[in-house]
Amino acid sequence: MINVAICGATGYTGLELIRILLKHPRVKIKALTAKIDKPVKISEVFPELLGTFEMVCSNKLAVNDVLKKGIDVVFLALPHKVSMDYVPRFLDKGKIVIDLSADFRLKDTRIYEKFYGKKHLQKKYLFASAYGLPELCSARIKKAKLIANPGCYPTGSILGIAPLLLKKKADLNDIVIDAKSGVTGAGRKAILPLHFSEVNENIKAYKIGVHQHCPEIEQELSNAAGKKVSILFTPHLVPINRGILTTAYVALKKQAGLSELVGLYKTFYKKAPFVRVYDEGSLPEIKNVTGSNYCDIGIALSPDKKRCVIVTAIDNLLKGASGQAVQNMNIVCGFPEATGLV
Ligand SMILES: NC(=O)c1ccc[n+]([C@@H]2O[C@H](COP(=O)([O-])OP(=O)(O)OC[C@H]3O[C@@H](n4cnc5c(N)ncnc54)[C@H](OP(=O)(O)O)[C@@H]3O)[C@@H](O)[C@H]2O)c1
Repeated sequence: MINVAICGATGYTGLELIRILLKHPRVKIKALTAKIDKPVKISEVFPELLGTFEMVCSNKLAVNDVLKKGIDVVFLALPHKVSMDYVPRFLDKGKIVIDLSADFRLKDTRIYEKFYGKKHLQKKYLFASAYGLPELCSARIKKAKLIANPGCYPTGSILGIAPLLLKKKADLNDIVIDAKSGVTGAGRKAILPLHFSEVNENIKAYKIGVHQHCPEIEQELSNAAGKKVSILFTPHLVPINRGILTTAYVALKKQAGLSELVGLYKTFYKKAPFVRVYDEGSLPEIKNVTGSNYCDIGIALSPDKKRCVIVTAIDNLLKGASGQAVQNMNIVCGFPEATGLV
């Protein structure tokens, strides 16, 4: 058994971590924290936990109390820029930290500072971090003390495109990604553009080419290609609670057949327990992955067979956040990768 703490327990990804870890056979939740002014029972914040889990959630100053509880692994489900301050306090005490924020994902701090608008104050920890996408980075994750859990849009985008780059099939200058996210992707805080009446019966594109997930996707796709990759990324907000559907258009170096490409993806993800590659003619839908840790992938071709169209679907709060974080915990702790997730 290992003992875990969740910082940011009162947010959407915090709740998902609680839900998963309560059923995980190798884990005991020992501490919860949030920004709240005074301690509160977590079941008061999330009444669905009434009678099943009534642990008291401490306020943000309680890091030392957390340390006293014999914690092995700390999940940071905190906003970007806040995690940065927490990571050293736990890492320096020998704890494993799984950070759901973006603070330790981008290796180039100039890019972090440009997209997140804050100076990176913990550079030495950045270089010790592993990017936590298990299907591509498990060798590094196994040895890491700090795991930078990927963003939700990057998870669906990278899993969809990386096989073509690793197998040298893609023209690196022509990659377009169009993604649609449900509203929980922006967290639980109340902000005007996320009010029901703003989102309901509406779909909108935003931050075209300048979204903070662009450099993260480019960083990991460049690692896969072994060369610099540039993308054009357009996110959309759609009126659903959870889920991301991503459609990526990748120009091929030469014409290819659909069965060849589907075969390439099926072989590539043969041993990945949470990636399901669809047969020819079938495409993923958000409702097929909601509530699960799967990333579903479907492949199509343009009529001239020069462009591959990859569609992926994930639950942003699970494969795009908390499910993936537990997958990473399983890997780093030496448990079977799917423990507690199926
Ligand atoms: N939502 C997603 O789909 C998704 C996907 C991938 C990654 N992520 C990332 O995961 C992290 C958490 O996301 P979320 O959606 O769960 O956010 P959220 O719903 O807004 O929850 C944020 C949590 O952090 C706490 N918090 C906020 N400011 C704090 C501070 N200054 N000190 C200590 N605690 C503080 C909040 O406590 P209070 O409730 O007391 O304010 C809350 O528990 C973010 O970095 C996000 O970008 C989210």
